[in-house]
Amino acid sequence: MAHTATHTRHLIFTPAIRIFHWLRALAILVLVVTGFYISWPFLVAPESTDVLVQGWIRFAHIVFGFVLTAVTLVRFYLFFFSRNNIERRSFKDVMSVNSWIVQLKSYLWMGHLNKAGVYGPLQFVTYVAISLMALFICITGLVLYANVYHLGLGGMLWESAAWITAQMGGLAKVRIWHHYLTWTFIVFVVIHVYMAVWSGIRFKQNSVDSIVSGYDYHKEH
Ligand code: HEM
Repeated sequence: MAHTATHTRHLIFTPAIRIFHWLRALAILVLVVTGFYISWPFLVAPESTDVLVQGWIRFAHIVFGFVLTAVTLVRFYLFFFSRNNIERRSFKDVMSVNSWIVQLKSYLWMGHLNKAGVYGPLQFVTYVAISLMALFICITGLVLYANVYHLGLGGMLWESAAWITAQMGGLAKVRIWHHYLTWTFIVFVVIHVYMAVWSGIRFKQNSVDSIVSGYDYHKEH
């Protein structure tokens, strides 16, 4: 019997977008865990100083901090200049009141999604917000870094780091903002994973596998 296709597939996420997505997911996971440990180093007994647990965890934090900084910059570049405009197209929906209503209704099981790009307007605005959070946590992270490492990159960043520290009202404020921002990532990841799984079930397309394989499947009519 001849095989007939029941679905068509479209490439929605380029390899670069997929690789950077998972690299960012890994970096955020490592940074949240190591960051909280830096803040509360519970494995080191108060009377001992001759242990490098904190040092190694801090080292991992800084390595993944630079990974996140690099990916954040590349991702901003790709959003604007990628040859594939599937992300940029979603901006059309953000500017359309009707698209917002269609998306919000579809979340309440009324009607289907109908979008110009790969993201719905609410989703797009959320991603813009978390990208700005990423930028801010990278900037505060680099300021903290420049205060400890005075040579090389730390030295190069020193002038701007001192200026940012003054604008933010001192180093303690920079640290506490860096800490508060951690929570925006935790809240985001929980909702993001839930919505990714839920929308795959609700709309039977554009589910978690497309950020792995790149493909989205549509049923043939
Ligand atoms: C999602 C991203 C990130 C998260 C969740 C995160 C989380 C944290 C947390 C919770 C702390 C402890 C703050 C405290 O003392 O209460 C911390 C400290 C720090 N972070 Fe991050 N961070 C992130 C990104 C970065 C980046 C991009 C850099 C820059 C390379 C960076 C560099 C640092 C430095 C230098 C410290 C201070 C370490 C110390 O005081 O010894 N972080 N981070």
